[in-house]
Amino acid sequence: MSRIAIVTGGSRGIGAAISTALQAQGCTVAATYAGNDEKAAAFTAETGIKTYKWDVGDYDACAAGIAQIEADLGPVDILVNNAGITRDAPFHKMSRDQWQQVIDTNLNGLFNMTHNVWGGMRERKFGRVINISSINGQKGQFAQANYSAAKAGDIGFTKSLAQEGARAGITVNAICPGYINTEMMSTIPDKVMNEVILPQIPAGRLGEAEEIARGVAFLAADDAGFVNGSTMTINGAQYLT
Ligand code: CAA
Repeated sequence: MSRIAIVTGGSRGIGAAISTALQAQGCTVAATYAGNDEKAAAFTAETGIKTYKWDVGDYDACAAGIAQIEADLGPVDILVNNAGITRDAPFHKMSRDQWQQVIDTNLNGLFNMTHNVWGGMRERKFGRVINISSINGQKGQFAQANYSAAKAGDIGFTKSLAQEGARAGITVNAICPGYINTEMMSTIPDKVMNEVILPQIPAGRLGEAEEIARGVAFLAADDAGFVNGSTMTINGAQYLT
């Protein structure tokens, strides 16, 4: 059966790898994005995956966008909450805006998206929700009080919903990527990357987006129904819980 999947932030970076991995697994995928029209159009041209533009931090936009996807493709079986941003700053310099933007996208976005597919998944007795958290939600990170708080919240959200969805055939799992070779890394100064971060990764390298997508494809499969509430760590052994 062809499952319908939404991947937020699904046209770039880790999200693009997730979208194409689910497509390769036979899913019909809709990828959402917030800003980069050019990249989204190029992604659609290359993969045939439809893209939809809205801000996951906006509840009403999520409701309308999901309704549009369901009208175009059918009821949503799989939701991958991948969209995420960084606004790094040491806490004494962090503005309220930097705090709020990250909480809105990286934490409230999960509520806004999941709340709008949950009822349908319960009715149809099937669902897969996969939340892309982060190693920095597990261990904390210098200059990321906002991001780490949101990503830790994503794990709590995952564990609670897993218990609520289990009887309705819905699984909810989190993946905690380590440092992955995407554009997000470009905000990290080279000196910090080379002297602080890379030496902490036993694998001796950044991860690749496809290595996260592999985990998502596993969790999204029909026969992964007993894997529920888990936190899958994919970080090259940088931090082990
Ligand atoms: N760990 C330890 N120290 C760090 C650090 C880190 N990750 N990042 C910066 N520092 C240190 C710098 O080396 C510098 O120290 P010195 O003054 O001794 O040279 C000091 O912090 C910089 O302090 P400032 O007050 O001058 O900071 P700033 O206002 O200029 O801000 C910064 C700079 C935003 C912190 C910048 O250094 C930065 O972006 N650092 C990287 C933060 C980081 O690791 N973010 C993770 C991004 S990856 C991600 O989010 C994806 C994921 O899920 C894994």
